[in-house]
Amino acid sequence: MTKAFVIGHPIAHSRSPLIHGTWLKAYGIDGSYEAIDVASDALSEFVAQLRAGTFAGGNVTIPHKEAVFSLCDEVDPLARRIGAVNTLVARNGRVCGTNTDYLGFLGNLDQQAPGWDRDLSEAVVLGAGGAARAVLVALAERGLKHIAILNRTVDKARDLAAEMGTQFSGHALSEFSTLAPSAGLVVNTSSIGMHGSHFEDLDLGLLPQTALVTDIVYTPLVTPLLADAQARNLRSVDGLGMLLHQAVPGFEAWFGVRPDVTPELRAAVEKTLDH
Ligand code: ATR
Repeated sequence: MTKAFVIGHPIAHSRSPLIHGTWLKAYGIDGSYEAIDVASDALSEFVAQLRAGTFAGGNVTIPHKEAVFSLCDEVDPLARRIGAVNTLVARNGRVCGTNTDYLGFLGNLDQQAPGWDRDLSEAVVLGAGGAARAVLVALAERGLKHIAILNRTVDKARDLAAEMGTQFSGHALSEFSTLAPSAGLVVNTSSIGMHGSHFEDLDLGLLPQTALVTDIVYTPLVTPLLADAQARNLRSVDGLGMLLHQAVPGFEAWFGVRPDVTPELRAAVEKTLDH
């Protein structure tokens, strides 16, 4: 039997066992996927066990995505650029780290808004934390000309832009009004939208009518930002698909089947979310 895991601390809230468990059943694979609570001081011992071949691999979530980076024997170039590892694959006594969050972000938009990147040259990304990095790398991969990073702490946005490359720039949230008229895409990567929070003074009415608005927050599924976009008849894509699509490459690496993100899988996970 092929075994995989998700490690985090805490881990009880993770939807990954539901996602991978649904696929294991659907494809009739003799495998398991379990959630394991691993505290920070036990992380290196866990990776050593993985090297010894107990598992085919697994996912890594909060708070270990950065710490596990240096424990891997190999980290692929995209995970290096993002600066975090969320997927581990054990191969011939070596632990290889990758990051599938950027593929999750792209897979979600490709499925829910096909052609979203055609003729798209400018995007506004809200937030400059760990979650922003995978989104920024994804947008650069799709060849956008200019990606503006807007953050409450403007210095963090500027530092991240400088690190990411010449097509990025860093700004305060208040600069949305000057950047919005030429932006074809708005992505929220900050935690705003959770726990009843919402952006103050973000006028989506300044965006072109063709703009797409997406959020990586999926609790609630329709964040205040997405509700605002919908009320203005702008296209919008929620964040649940990113969670589902980031799971695809890991499942394929461990179990040898590329799984589909189906409406049934989405419905099963959606049922577990607070509305
Ligand atoms: P993650 O790894 O999930 O991205 P993080 O690194 O703590 O978490 O980043 C959270 C992001 O949400 C940051 O961009 C943060 O802005 P600051 O850099 O100014 O802290 C943003 N954020 C969180 N709460 C916010 C709030 N109430 N108003 C504006 N931005 C907020």
